[in-house]
Amino acid sequence: MQLYRKWSFYNPVMVTSGPGEISDLPSLLLKDGGYLDKSSSKTGLLVTSKSFTERGLTAKLQKLLNEQQKELQIEIIDDVKPNPDISAIEEYAARLQDKDLQFVIGLGGGSVMDTAKALSYLLSVNDPNFSLRAHFNGKLPLPEKPPLKMIAIPTTAGTGSEVTPFATIWDMAERKKYSLARPDLFPFAAILDGELTLTMSEETTVTTALDVLSHALESVWNINASPVTVNMAGRAIEIVLSTLPALLNDPNNIDYRSKMLTGSYLGGMCISSTRTALAHSMSYPITAALGAPHGLACAFTLPALLEFNAKGFEKSSSGDNRFEIIAGMSGCRSVKELTGKLTGLFAEVGVKDLMKKYGINAKNLQSLVSAMYTPERAGNNLRSVEQKEMEEIFCKACKL
Ligand SMILES: [Fe+2]
Repeated sequence: MQLYRKWSFYNPVMVTSGPGEISDLPSLLLKDGGYLDKSSSKTGLLVTSKSFTERGLTAKLQKLLNEQQKELQIEIIDDVKPNPDISAIEEYAARLQDKDLQFVIGLGGGSVMDTAKALSYLLSVNDPNFSLRAHFNGKLPLPEKPPLKMIAIPTTAGTGSEVTPFATIWDMAERKKYSLARPDLFPFAAILDGELTLTMSEETTVTTALDVLSHALESVWNINASPVTVNMAGRAIEIVLSTLPALLNDPNNIDYRSKMLTGSYLGGMCISSTRTALAHSMSYPITAALGAPHGLACAFTLPALLEFNAKGFEKSSSGDNRFEIIAGMSGCRSVKELTGKLTGLFAEVGVKDLMKKYGINAKNLQSLVSAMYTPERAGNNLRSVEQKEMEEIFCKACKL
């Protein structure tokens, strides 16, 4: 294992963070030397969800931008549904293809970010002979065109999508999940404004925090891990463990919300470099079949996977102490203690009840176990895993 011997890290996203920072959007886009030249008229796209339009945030953003530049035109898509479907994304692209868009703003959770990223690429390509569906079916390569510039403004604290170069897109009719990934699909800037996450429901607060844990841990038991990602992962895990229970008791606490958004950002930074691994691979058939929230579908396997991966790693004589590093950063003396702390957190924040609510159990999902192994993700797992071992991990996780 070459954690310290050979590694690289790259992430180009400019980030600004703080309560109320959304007000900084016009200057990020329009200030001298910023992305857009104030002297020319521009058209941009805001991708968001209905709830933000209903709360007046869409209008607020438009006003902020037009105060800076009167001529700026903003097209709006605000009906993004959870787990964005390929048909919906292609419809949006067809609707907007004549608008000559120069930039995209994504304001929302993971589904909004995925949609905004996919549109930033499709609207740049703008070729009637190209379709994402044909690409995902293996019939067309991705045209070599850089996506439109995108600013990501997350309103949930989980996906870390604001700093990753990939978007998850679903074909729900076929129950298939695809990933649009390009080295240039990173947003050019991200705004982390904890105030925007105050409106999350308790369930979304929990399931998105579970996604943070999933990203952090998946980047640790990952063949692409580096000293940079392991240390960011340790901090993200510590943030969730120490903050989530307090946040649930005090959901309007802006310091806790800001901290969770930082944890989400750190988890995103990790997977932007390592990609995800086995927990994510196992989650996608569960989300497709049961509609279970992504973070929940990823996270219920984490304690079992931590045990599995750390156990296999004890045999390593390379001096790579990544599991000890993350345990220590979380205030634990051993990986076993960290596994217990994770399980304790899950009990405290109601993961078992959520699993029950969405029907995550061995009986419901037995037929899907073989589909849970996708080489693209499971191949990143630190310890290679056989189908039978994965089944054992899954069954153990269901008994959480
Ligand atoms: Fe995730």
